[in-house]
Formats: sequence, structure tokens, C-alpha cells
Amino acid sequence: MSVNMAVVESPEETASLVARNRIVCFVNDELSAAALRKGLDGSNLVIRRGTIRHATRMLETDTDLYALVADISGMDDPFTELERLASVCPPDVKVALIGDNREITFYRELMEIGLTEYLPTPITRDIVLDQLRPKLLGDATLAQSDRDRGGHVVSICGAQGGAGATSVAINLALQLAETTKAKVALLDLHLQGGETAVMLGVRPGPGLRIALENPMRADTLFLERAAIEVNERVCLISGDEDLDAKLDITEAGVRHVLGLLRQRFNYVVVDVPVPFPASIYPVIQMSRHVLVLLEAEVTGLRNAHALRNAVTNIAGKDRVFTLLNRAGRAGGLPRATIVKALGAEPDMIIPDLGKGMTQAVNLGVPALKHVSGLRRHLAPIVREITGVGANQKARWKRWLGL
Ligand SMILES: Nc1ncnc2c1ncn2[C@@H]1O[C@H](COP(=O)(O)OP(=O)(O)OP(=O)(O)O)[C@@H](O)[C@H]1O
Ligand SMILES: [Mg+2]
Repeated sequence: MSVNMAVVESPEETASLVARNRIVCFVNDELSAAALRKGLDGSNLVIRRGTIRHATRMLETDTDLYALVADISGMDDPFTELERLASVCPPDVKVALIGDNREITFYRELMEIGLTEYLPTPITRDIVLDQLRPKLLGDATLAQSDRDRGGHVVSICGAQGGAGATSVAINLALQLAETTKAKVALLDLHLQGGETAVMLGVRPGPGLRIALENPMRADTLFLERAAIEVNERVCLISGDEDLDAKLDITEAGVRHVLGLLRQRFNYVVVDVPVPFPASIYPVIQMSRHVLVLLEAEVTGLRNAHALRNAVTNIAGKDRVFTLLNRAGRAGGLPRATIVKALGAEPDMIIPDLGKGMTQAVNLGVPALKHVSGLRRHLAPIVREITGVGANQKARWKRWLGL
């Protein structure tokens, strides 16, 4: 079945679509209700009397909503209430809170676990207009909200050819799945001459190019066909187009494919071609981590700088991580030169792991299975990405789907 057709919605379906863009507020005082009513004017707003507990109760049976605003005033242990809420709240529903705690540490803790906003009472129309409305509805935050919905996107890009981007993408995907037991998609955006499939000893599935060119062609079965199982938790989505094919990848197609993957997989690791064609900017914008790989060579250093800047311009500074690969390789630049040229220590380092890495490529097996030591060097990168072991908040984040 293709979705490329006009869909006539039944009255029930129309009602459900309308319900889905509701912003539901549970607040306990008339002043807050009035501030929200005026500040969120024009949206599909439902205001009820109650607190976060009422919100949790509602979500047990009714999850068709876009965002929730709930009152936590007077609660002794708001984090317990939040845990309850998180256990019934769909991951893509934005959650904002209002309450009487005015401490900045409290605010920070809430932001860290992925809440959209927290407003201390009393709230006014202007506070809602300035602080809440842009985060719930504003265009300015589109990239941010895109980034926060669904699976966690990690982009891997090489500052120079052969820096190890594909090797890191493949093995990171496998180790992420192994460590977190989550589902991981490996997306290779080198549609011509991409190497992920060869390195994994599998054949690319069909349909990625068409989906990336025209989102209307990516029907519900697209992923079933295109995603090739690497193991029970990891799938590869790649293409193998002729080198003389004229591709017409569109931004809408890229956004759509990534959206589909993020609904189905907890992590999406992307082998990104460099320089980025404008059509794949959404991948960078939706990434929570962009790993810029380089080797200890003059070319790598020069390009890493430019690539970091490009990523920062597209997606913001806080997502870029520099990964020095094959560190210590004979003939490479000394560490001090690298640090000087980068202006800082690399964020991550993988040493040169010798010829076993290339042997693995030739055998078509993941290096993780062939090269002892790779796992240990990938572990800190996996920790950085998953936040596992960082603190208990990672758990909440997962519950909140963030
Ligand atoms: N840490 C490492 N130690 C030793 N060899 C490595 C290491 N990382 C990658 N290699 C080897 O370097 C070669 C190039 O790696 P890879 O194909 O992953 O790079 P790439 O950045 O994807 O290249 P391309 O620019 O062609 O896409 C491969 O033979 C790979 O096995
Ligand atoms: Mg590659």
C-alpha cells in the first residue's frame, strides 16, 4: 500500500487529529489559568483544575495530546510525581511545569531530565508569552524540538578521507546496542560507494534513495524492506546506487526517513558524507552528538576545524565532539601539535589498533569481533552518548523518551 494518496478521514479520525495537537493544562489557581489562557491563545488549549497527579491520571487513559502543563505547587516530592507521570506519558509529549519552588538548582534539575520548561508561580500572561510559548509553539525552537523527539541521533563524519568514520559508525552502533539492549539503526548516507554494507558483509536493502528523494514514496513498508538486520538489535539502512546516478536527495525526504527511523529505533547512528550537501542538514540538526573524526595529520587538523565550524553553524556548539582516531600511529603529528591546532584536547581518542582493523574490513566482519581493545576504547564514547552511569537522571530521560 502506498501512502501517496489523498486520505479521507472519518469523523473519528478527524477528532483524534484535533485531540493530538491539544495542549492540556492542569493548574490549581485562577491566576495561572488566566495567564496560560492568554499566553497560549490561538492554540488548541484545554485548561483544567488540578495538579500533576490529575495529569498522570488522565494520561493513563488519554494520551492524544501535544503538550502538557501541570502544577506541582505544594508537593513535597515532585520528582516522585514526575516519575509517575513519565511512566504513562508518551515520549513525544512536551511537558512543562509550574510550581512554587524558585531555586535555580531545582530549575536546572528539571531541565536536565528533559522538561520543556518550568515556571515559578505567580505566572503572568507575559511570562507565558516570553518563556513558555516559544518553547511549546515557537518556530525559533523547531530545530531544538525536532532534535528532542524520538530516537537519539549520532552523526559520524570524517574530517579527511579514511579517518575511520565508517569503522567507528559500525562498531559504535553495535556496541551501543550491546550495552543498552536498545534498538539501533545504522544509516549510511553515502548512497554511492558507501562502505557500511561491505564492511558488515551484507547487501544493502532497496528503497533508501527513493525515500530520500521523495518522502511521499516512503510508505509504511519502506523500513521493512530497506532495513537489513545485522543482528537482533541492529539494522543497516543503506543504498548502492550507480556512481553515475544523478541523485536528487531532498531535505523533506531526509527529514521523513530520519523521523521514521527515530520512531522505531532508540539510537540512529549516521555515517555522514562530508562536505554535507544542504539536503542533509536536518540530520545534523537532529543530532545530539556529532563526532568529527580526524587523524593526526595536517589535512585532518585543517579540515576538522572547518567541519566543527560547519556543524556549529548548523546545529549549535554543544553537540560537536572531536574524535582523534588512530592516535599514536607512526608518522602522525605529535599530540602537542594537535592540541595546539585544535585549540583544545580532543574530546575522544581511539588509538591506532593495527592491521586487525583492515583485516576485519577485508573479512566483512565488524572490527569489534576481530580486534581486541576496540571495545574498551569505544566504551567512553558509548557512555558519553547514553549517559549511562552518569547519574540516575538518565533513567528519567529514557522514560521521558529524551
Ligand atoms: N583506530 C584504528 N586503528 C587502525 N586502523 C583503523 C582504525 N580506524 C580505522 N582504521 C582503518 O582505516 C581504514 C579506513 O577506515 P574507514 O573506511 O572506516 O574510514 P572512513 O573515514 O569511513 O573512510 P572514507 O573517507 O573512505 O569513507 C580502514 O582500513 C580501517 O580498518
Ligand atoms: Mg567511510
